[in-house]
Amino acid sequence: MPKNCIIAIDGYSSCGKSTIAKALAKRLNFIYVDSGAMYRATTLYFLRNGIDWHNHDAVVEALEKVHIELHLENDQTQVLLNNEDISQEIRQMPVSLSVSKVSAIKEVRKAMVALQQKMGKTKNIVMDGRDIGTTVFPNAQLKIFMTAEPLIRAERRYKELAANGETITVREVLDNLKDRDHADTTREESPLRKAEDAIILDNSHISPEQQLEFVENLYMNWTAQK
Ligand code: DC
Repeated sequence: MPKNCIIAIDGYSSCGKSTIAKALAKRLNFIYVDSGAMYRATTLYFLRNGIDWHNHDAVVEALEKVHIELHLENDQTQVLLNNEDISQEIRQMPVSLSVSKVSAIKEVRKAMVALQQKMGKTKNIVMDGRDIGTTVFPNAQLKIFMTAEPLIRAERRYKELAANGETITVREVLDNLKDRDHADTTREESPLRKAEDAIILDNSHISPEQQLEFVENLYMNWTAQK
């Protein structure tokens, strides 16, 4: 196996990046890092503490107090914010509605990217997000860009939220993910875009097993060429 290999999986909101990234990491015995969870944790801190994210000084001061840890527990990412487990809360709508605004802030991105790069310095990792192949690890050995039709993504996400007891409609989920796609692709700071050397995976009509096979084959082909 190559030393310190990075696999970057970027793409639109709710298109199953984490499912594939997690499964691939498990298969290859790599560490899975959910970069979106870090932006969500920061957003939760800002919401809870009433941080005015238009105020540069307040943002910088708040970021110094945000300590995020990610652990994989029974195949689930456990997210700790200042030692508190906030894994469930960061998936709920209040965070989803504000995370695009918080993640567009330059200082926030700088802090998260630094943390992500530190995580990838010595370990083999699969990291999913929006700018992993373009900004965080432009030299990643393998880059995947995931996409799927918006309605299919909304229906998948709706099922997850409904299963967790959230009262929400498919329409609301669809509107939120379209808003996030728009915000993520049009922001000034490292917008979501496909890295030139990323391989597109449209999973609208393929199963998670087929997706895993696809990315695993890409990785195997890459290692075979080394
Ligand atoms: O992957 P996710 O939906 O949990 O990510 C939440 C938000 O965080 C998403 O709307 C955009 C932002 N994000 C980002 O800007 N850069 C990343 N590398 C990961 C997520």
